[in-house]
Parts: sequence; C-alpha cells; structure tokens
Amino acid sequence: MSLKSKIDAQRLPEHIAIIMDGNGRWAKEKGKFRIFGHQNGVKSVREATEAAAELGVKYLTLYAFSTENWNRPQLEVIALMELLVSTIRKETNTLMKNNIRLQAIGNMDDLPPKCFKELKAAIDETQNNTRMTLVLALSYSAKWDITNAVKSIAHKVKEGKLLPSDITDQTIDEHLSTNGIPNPALMIRTSGEHRISNFLLWELAYSEFYFTDTLWPDFNKEHLYEAILNFQQRERRFGKTSEQLAI
Ligand code: IPE
Ligand code: IPE
Ligand code: MG
Repeated sequence: MSLKSKIDAQRLPEHIAIIMDGNGRWAKEKGKFRIFGHQNGVKSVREATEAAAELGVKYLTLYAFSTENWNRPQLEVIALMELLVSTIRKETNTLMKNNIRLQAIGNMDDLPPKCFKELKAAIDETQNNTRMTLVLALSYSAKWDITNAVKSIAHKVKEGKLLPSDITDQTIDEHLSTNGIPNPALMIRTSGEHRISNFLLWELAYSEFYFTDTLWPDFNKEHLYEAILNFQQRERRFGKTSEQLAI
C-alpha cells in the first residue's frame, strides 16, 4: 500500500507550514557552494506544492527567507533574491494551470524592487485561483509581524477607534500579515533542527510539529505524505482531556 493511499482525506491538515532548512549543508556534503543547495531546493518546493494541492490541502506556507537571513553573506543574499525572481517568473504558469493562488507574508519593503515587482505580478495574476493558497514567507519574522500589529493597534487606540478593553486575541489575528489564513495544523521543519527560528510564533500556538532529518533539497512528495500520516496519528486536545474529545 502506498503512503499516499494511507492518508485519510477527511482529516487533512487544512494548513501546512514548512521551514525549508538544510540547503547549505546539502550542497556542502556534495562539495558545492551553498547556492547550489538553494537551486536544488526549488524542486522540493515544487514537490511539496504539487503533493499538497493534489491531496486537497487548502493552505501551504513556505518559509523562504527570514528577517535574520539578511545578515548572511551579501553574495548569498543576492543569489537567493535572483533565484526567487527567476523561480516566480518560471512557475507562475504552473500555478495558473493548477489553480493555485500565491500570497506573501513579510516585509516586502525590504525586497529588491525587481523581486517585489515579480512577486506582485504573480500574486495579482493568481489572485482568483481557488484550489490551494501558497503563502511565501519572505523577509518574514514573527516578531516583525507582531511588532507591526501592536503598532497598528496602538494607533487605533490613540485615534479613539478602539478601546484597550476591546482588544482580544482576534484583534491581534486581524492585524497580522496572516490575517484570513487559518492557523497551521501541521508545521514541518527539515534538516534535523528543532527550533522555530522566528516563524509564525503566534499562529503556531496549537500546531502539531513534525521534524525530519531530511535536508530540504532531498524532500519529496513521499516525505510530505509521511509527515501527514504522522500528524493523523496524533490527538489534538487543545487543552481538553482525551475523554472530553470522545464526546
Ligand atoms: C534553508 O537552508 C534556506 C534558507 C534559509 C534561505 P539553509 O541555507 O539554512 O541551509 P543550512 O541550514 O545552512 O544547511
Ligand atoms: C530558517 O532557517 C529560515 C528559513 C528556512 C527561511 P535558518 O537556517 O535561517 O535558521 P537558523 O538560523 O538555523 O535558526
Ligand atoms: Mg539553515
């Protein structure tokens, strides 16, 4: 029996978020430059996106570049931005064919203009697609997002549009760049690292975490199926007892 056929289609995670990690180590193992790893990571993005869409997952968020990644060597940053532009340009047609909508979260102001332009064009072109939403976290960090949310809320309070006593966790949801996107049910991190690295701190409050030693460029559809099958064996209690869930 194939892994895919073991997946219960009724209990799919509606939203999967992935920290795509290990490109540099993958390249190093092969005696190549880090960018070779990033280039090979693109086919894993394709694999994960295709597999998720085929299964019927509604949202897939990929952590592609963090706020902290700007501190990498300049050459690597430039190469990553170039790769991003060329990949978006090449893949927009495939997104259209597969009815996939592209969105982005993160500080778009920091992106090189060419990169922003390409991204914006793909987001606009795919905006009416309905099968799945692919969210790219780009120049993203959760602390950046939460700080911005707090700033906008503070402005509204100052202008008298909002009372401090009316602030709920929903108010915070609504001011984050992930507004409108359901919280991830499943968060996957590749490459054997067990940390969040400033990814979706608020939204992952009740997500199931899945860690694999597989380096991102080796990640394929089967790896995604494995993660989903593992997720489906878990009991999500949301603070309740197991007995309460059975009712
Ligand atoms: C993930 O791979 C890609 C990005 C963070 C852009 P890394 O580049 O972090 O690879 P490792 O972790 O150094 O192996
Ligand atoms: C996290 O990976 C960010 C992305 C995958 C884009 P990093 O490789 O930057 O994370 P750390 O620095 O090892 O925590
Ligand atoms: Mg890394």
